[in-house]
Amino acid sequence: MTACIRYWGVVPAAGVGKRMGGVIPKQYLAVAGKPVLQHTLERLLAVERFAAIAVALGAEDGYWPDLPCANEARIVTAPGGKERADSVLAALVRLEELAHLEDWVLVHDAARMCVTPSDVESLMDRLADHPVGGILALPSTDTLKGVEYGVIVDTVNRNHIWRALTPQMFRYGTLRFALEDAARRGLTVTDEASALELQGQRPAIVEGRPDNIKITRPEDLPLAAFYLEQQCFA
Ligand code: C5P
Repeated sequence: MTACIRYWGVVPAAGVGKRMGGVIPKQYLAVAGKPVLQHTLERLLAVERFAAIAVALGAEDGYWPDLPCANEARIVTAPGGKERADSVLAALVRLEELAHLEDWVLVHDAARMCVTPSDVESLMDRLADHPVGGILALPSTDTLKGVEYGVIVDTVNRNHIWRALTPQMFRYGTLRFALEDAARRGLTVTDEASALELQGQRPAIVEGRPDNIKITRPEDLPLAAFYLEQQCFA
């Protein structure tokens, strides 16, 4: 039974990267001589288990056609949406003729270019028989404070706090239903796991690598270049 289950990638890449500033969207900024999105897709394409990867692109995106990965046989594109969840849903719709309801979908942020193929494969291996699916995550090392109007109002018990990373891996049918249902109910979901949580599901956690950072601010670019270099020697 498990042998017929396939794996599909979804990469939301339609954001404008407001916190980065500048004219070029952050997924097209160069790190170590290549755009962020090219790095990200190369790392996912290194995982042979992906049957195809659907990339959601912004309507105004004029950079995509020049990306070497744009011509890869295993890559398809979809028009991105207003929010990240809309872009993920559009990519799932793009895959509907290809994917079965029981197939696994791994959603990975375009901006997480340092993800390692081995972390993606370990998520696939660890959750292959899981009833719900789950995500790469990291236990929080910082003490977290609740803040209101500039003052601390409480300290969160960090023993229970993990930071959600991507990929996040769920069944095609379940994920699509959960995202569509959240949209119908007007609920904001910032990742796939939260859409599943709204359905009463309990996604699993697989510990990921701390270098799987999301490029968000300008200082993340040299940090990503440093991690890439370190990974080459790992
Ligand atoms: O802005 P943030 O870094 O949280 O976005 C996470 C990912 O979601 C990025 O890869 C971004 O390109 C993508 N995104 C999208 N469509 C949007 C907003 C964000 O595909 N409308």
